[in-house]
Amino acid sequence: MHLPNYIDARRRENKSYRRVDFQFDNRVKDKYKGKTFFLKTYGCQMNEHDSENIVALLCNLGFSQIEDYEDADLVLLNTCSIRENAHNKAFGFLGRLKHLKNKRKDLLVGLCGCMAQEASVVDEILKNYKWVDFVFGTHNLYQLPNIIDRAIEENKQQIEVFSQEGDLVEGLPVVRSNGYKAYVNIIYGCNKFCTYCIVPYTRGRERSRKKEDILKEIDQLIQEGYKEVTLLGQNVNAYGKDLYDNYSLANLLEDIAKKDIPRIRFMTSHPWDFTDSMIEVIGKYENIMPSVHLPVQSGSSRILKLMGRRYSREEYMKLFYKIKKTVPNVAISTDIIVGFPGEKEEDFLQTLSLVEECKYDNAFTFIFSKREGTPACKLKDDVSLEEKEMRLQRLNKVVNKYFLENNKKLEGTVVPVLVEGPSEKKNNMFFGYTDTNKLINFVSNKQLNAGDIVNVKVLSAKTWSLDGETVE
Ligand code: SAH
Ligand code: SF4
Ligand code: F3S
Repeated sequence: MHLPNYIDARRRENKSYRRVDFQFDNRVKDKYKGKTFFLKTYGCQMNEHDSENIVALLCNLGFSQIEDYEDADLVLLNTCSIRENAHNKAFGFLGRLKHLKNKRKDLLVGLCGCMAQEASVVDEILKNYKWVDFVFGTHNLYQLPNIIDRAIEENKQQIEVFSQEGDLVEGLPVVRSNGYKAYVNIIYGCNKFCTYCIVPYTRGRERSRKKEDILKEIDQLIQEGYKEVTLLGQNVNAYGKDLYDNYSLANLLEDIAKKDIPRIRFMTSHPWDFTDSMIEVIGKYENIMPSVHLPVQSGSSRILKLMGRRYSREEYMKLFYKIKKTVPNVAISTDIIVGFPGEKEEDFLQTLSLVEECKYDNAFTFIFSKREGTPACKLKDDVSLEEKEMRLQRLNKVVNKYFLENNKKLEGTVVPVLVEGPSEKKNNMFFGYTDTNKLINFVSNKQLNAGDIVNVKVLSAKTWSLDGETVE
């Protein structure tokens, strides 16, 4: 049994890690043929991509995936800790699974992902969820086959969570959920320790994958016919810092852009590490999509300081305008937290005024959620939840106004669209995403396939989507 703890999770030792190739244990290959699993994924793209590895590992064990959890032999929850409601959803699902398990004693239930890294969650499972068969963390996902095998063979709860990152494992099998858009991890973990955020504790320190491994994966994706890659990391801009003296995200983006891949995206960018050379590369290559996610969190420099974000409002705005100026037609999106402890009305008004200035193309807005073990959890918080909810509503009204305004500007223009598929509702209707990552529904008389890239004229704009028709 390995239990997580935050003291180890917080450590950022300057030790080196090994890069090892994954080997599937042949003794368990196809051992569970005929059995089925249901996988539920919460959280960010990182978790979604982990789930693509989990599906492949389970398939190698012999399981096959089904869509109805009530019929499955194994139910696995890949969880997220970022806010309390993600937490509550996972525990809510566990509650339903308890009933199912009462009816079907042979049902296997497991929990993995970020919540597994939290000592308080594992304590709770040890105390009140003794019937959960296994728990493993983000640092030892590759051990899934043997953990599940032991849970079945020994018929005993397995808790295997490493508090710290271990080896950097390459070559995990993957079953991608999309045939033409792929996620590619480039850096794991986070060293930023924003005071509200749990991710540095659940995902460990920043570890970059070797550029050769990333480029090889992309070559393979191109061969398989993929049209879009999204480079993933909690902070992709820190790419390479732990590995190379002279190779950064700018270099990696450039090396990928020179390949025959039509669309490159990356996320998430922390404003702190965003260099001029990155901006130049993004502006220079047509296949690097003009879409940058640049989380601001707050418009008040005082709150930004309390959040430990390492930039002021003015520094953020300088970067914002540099990107706008250098990358033609760029769409910038953001994340914003309202109700951080100590946020006063005047701080919140500064967030509103920043949004009025930036006119974001998209924004994810959240109410601050206390995460146990993070510094912000201990800060005095005298704003009521009602007030925070009001602020969120006021903020959403403003961000939505600009989504619509930005979309309206596209009316009459022709945009490149990666086709996702035909619409279920109408004949000759398709949907896809523009270069700036906007959802567009469009008419076409041609027979289009998912993965095609076509030119679409925007006919009308809504807040959350565009409507259009293909042009020759
Ligand atoms: N690494 C990314 C963020 C990943 S988490 C970055 O720094 O840009 C995604 C978003 O969740 C964050 O940008 C933040 O807006 C929000 N978030 C994180 N912790 C939160 C908390 N404790 N309460 C509310 N929102 C939070
Ligand atoms: Fe969390 Fe900050 Fe790291 Fe993003 S940069 S994952 S918000 S600690
Ligand atoms: Fe959630 Fe973990 Fe991602 S906390 S947002 S799943 S890194």
